[in-house]
Amino acid sequence: MPLETINEYRNFLKDTLRKEIDFSTTDQRKGVSPPPIQKPYPPDKEILELPSKEDWKTINEYDLVSAIVVRSSVRRYAVAPLGLEELSFLLWATQGIKKRINKATVKRTVPSAGCRHSFETYLRIANVESLPAGVYRYLPLEHALILEHRPENIAKKLDQATLNQKFISSAPVTFIWTTIPYRMEWRYSLAAHRVILMDAGHVCQNLYLACQAIQAGTCAVAAFDQEKMDALVNVDGEEEFVLYLAPVGKV
Ligand SMILES: Cc1cc2nc3c(=O)[nH]c(=O)nc-3n(C[C@H](O)[C@H](O)[C@H](O)COP(=O)(O)O)c2cc1C
Repeated sequence: MPLETINEYRNFLKDTLRKEIDFSTTDQRKGVSPPPIQKPYPPDKEILELPSKEDWKTINEYDLVSAIVVRSSVRRYAVAPLGLEELSFLLWATQGIKKRINKATVKRTVPSAGCRHSFETYLRIANVESLPAGVYRYLPLEHALILEHRPENIAKKLDQATLNQKFISSAPVTFIWTTIPYRMEWRYSLAAHRVILMDAGHVCQNLYLACQAIQAGTCAVAAFDQEKMDALVNVDGEEEFVLYLAPVGKV
């Protein structure tokens, strides 16, 4: 590999780019309206409300130190389904909204550069209590789900899209995080992309730790076929595309 190419790619990891960006020309500074906090959905879409935090009965306190000590990647899952409250807890832990600051800004359970939160969460649901199988999307503002679609032969398509890492399709639920980069670019222009990747780590780490509290396990997955994964969740691959996956199941 030529050193020049390596250095070029390494530079992406550095914050030197910031010095070259004229932040006075970002869309935010130009007065362009901020993009929506969450991707809009059709008004006639059925909303599946998730049990709210105040009503959880099956989610118990769990010692954070123990969660950090025992956390590890899990690639084998029990056949048992995931409970709806458990799924609700995992969604809240990874992208849940704690406070609305204004029309364009919300505080979530995870940090995000400039509080821009560029992610959408899709779920491939195979075995979750009271939810028919399919591809769903989490609505953090409503703490609810919408059914996106029910692809045929989804397990096979998921295997192909994840380079035959078959433990993923065997999981009762797979978190599929897309990014809508413009949410971050609106404020940070070309400095957006590096921090989008940093944001993703926080989301997945919260999933790892939250899984410990419900005797479940997960495994971060960054290796997949981009076009096939985008097709599976039905996103355009330009304004929104898949960034990261994490199958979840009881251990
Ligand atoms: C960014 C990232 C990408 C990963 N991608 C994959 C993957 O595609 N397939 C996989 O089986 N594990 C993947 N892993 C899991 C790692 O292999 C795992 O974290 C590592 O071996 C350390 O093991 P531990 O998580 O049990 O400590 C990924 C982990 C991270 C953080």
